[in-house]
Amino acid sequence: MAPSLPPDTSKTTKLERYNSYLRRVNTTKLLAASSTLLFRATLLISLLLLFLFTLSSPTQPHHHRQLLSSTLTPSWEKQVRQSSTPRRPSGLSVLVTGAGGFVGSHCSLALKRRGDGVLGLDNFNSYYAPSLKRSRQSLLLKHSIFIVDGDINDAELLSHLFSLVPFTHVLHLAAQAGVRYALRNPLSYVRSNVAGFVTLLEAAKAADPQPAIVWASSSSVYGLNSDNPFSEHHRTDRPASLYAATKKAGEEIAHTYNHIHGLSLTALRFFTVYGPWGRPDMAYFSFTKDILSGRAISVYVTQDDKEVARDFTYIDDVVKGCLGAIDTAEKSTGSGGVKRKSAQLRVYNLGNTSPVSVKDMVVILEKLLGVKAKKNIVKLPRNGDVPYTHANVSLAERDFGYRPSTDLQTGLRKFVKWYVGYYGIKTRVNKETATVGEGEVVESS
Ligand SMILES: NC(=O)c1ccc[n+]([C@@H]2O[C@H](COP(=O)([O-])OP(=O)(O)OC[C@H]3O[C@@H](n4cnc5c(N)ncnc54)[C@H](O)[C@@H]3O)[C@@H](O)[C@H]2O)c1
Repeated sequence: MAPSLPPDTSKTTKLERYNSYLRRVNTTKLLAASSTLLFRATLLISLLLLFLFTLSSPTQPHHHRQLLSSTLTPSWEKQVRQSSTPRRPSGLSVLVTGAGGFVGSHCSLALKRRGDGVLGLDNFNSYYAPSLKRSRQSLLLKHSIFIVDGDINDAELLSHLFSLVPFTHVLHLAAQAGVRYALRNPLSYVRSNVAGFVTLLEAAKAADPQPAIVWASSSSVYGLNSDNPFSEHHRTDRPASLYAATKKAGEEIAHTYNHIHGLSLTALRFFTVYGPWGRPDMAYFSFTKDILSGRAISVYVTQDDKEVARDFTYIDDVVKGCLGAIDTAEKSTGSGGVKRKSAQLRVYNLGNTSPVSVKDMVVILEKLLGVKAKKNIVKLPRNGDVPYTHANVSLAERDFGYRPSTDLQTGLRKFVKWYVGYYGIKTRVNKETATVGEGEVVESS
């Protein structure tokens, strides 16, 4: 057996040194490579974050995102043009703001039905369930009405729309509605009802041709007025809520744009509109929900225990009034923002001329639903609601034949029928109101 040779230490040491050198070189290269990679990744992430921040920055309104992403595409513009094109000879082309809302969706359908072109605009805010607004949007889409997802404060979007379509009319219904919400979010009223209205009027003033504008004011402008029934000649300088104050501001702003820029402007003072596809924040709607689910409702009386009453106006009557106002609106007279001659400026009440107490409204609902309501009688809080509304509509009747024809019983029956169908409520109905569903009515859902 050959004796084992002692290891050649000088060779081993050299080899180890060489290996260690290689390791150092590799580590250095690795470090250099990974720091380059790290640098690039950081740069990429920063750019991505900057991009996301720019998109979500509050100084960049929601609509800019839309302008970037969808409004500049040919297919979006095609939808806008198609929806706005009338289908009858000398049909109108109407921009309906708030088309995802209660009154806006009904008016859009009525205009489209008679062959006018309709383009909707709505920001689908969450003041009440956006899902209801989206359902209305789907309904409108089935009738080839496209609603642009955007805000009336978006001057860029508005001018883009006016450059795409020569709208003959704007039916402006987008607003922050409701009286009590002002205690929680006062600025939403200023943003939509004042700033948004001015932004819209600026766009309309600059449009060529200038459209005629019909817009929703409110019976709430009568505020502390105690003369009855409310006439357009009565005082409206004592609003009882911020909502009313912003609607009244709208009427004054309308005067200014009519006076300086020749815009044809018609304000419609709606009185408590109700009906199918209505607003969940309104009493008839929330009472229906609460009665069906066995929750107690608060029925208001005045501070001196008198009944609170409203001139409840059925949606179909209001729609007829809106279309009548549109059809009798004269053209705006300005061009390039400059008034050529004086233009039409009008204000009309659209009510039912027949107030019903909230207590009696509840009795009608109880009968229709076949359920007795649990009631708490509560004093009307001093936060904006007025005790009584009653419209004199003789001006609207004289100028465009407005004659409301639906009583509360009939209108609420139609509302309840829609409500149980929409929310899929399986329940037992009062036989007398068997028109509500096929004889199947009420219970909690
Ligand atoms: N329903 C009533 O009883 C009644 C009574 C008086 C006046 N009004 C007025 O009539 C109009 C329509 O009321 P409604 O009952 O259909 O209310 P609604 O809340 O159902 O409809 C308003 C729509 O406007 C949209 N909107 C709000 N702010 C917007 C903005 N800044 N940009 C784009 N869209 C915006 C909302 O998303 C909503 O879909 C409103 O101007 C309201 O103040 C209604």
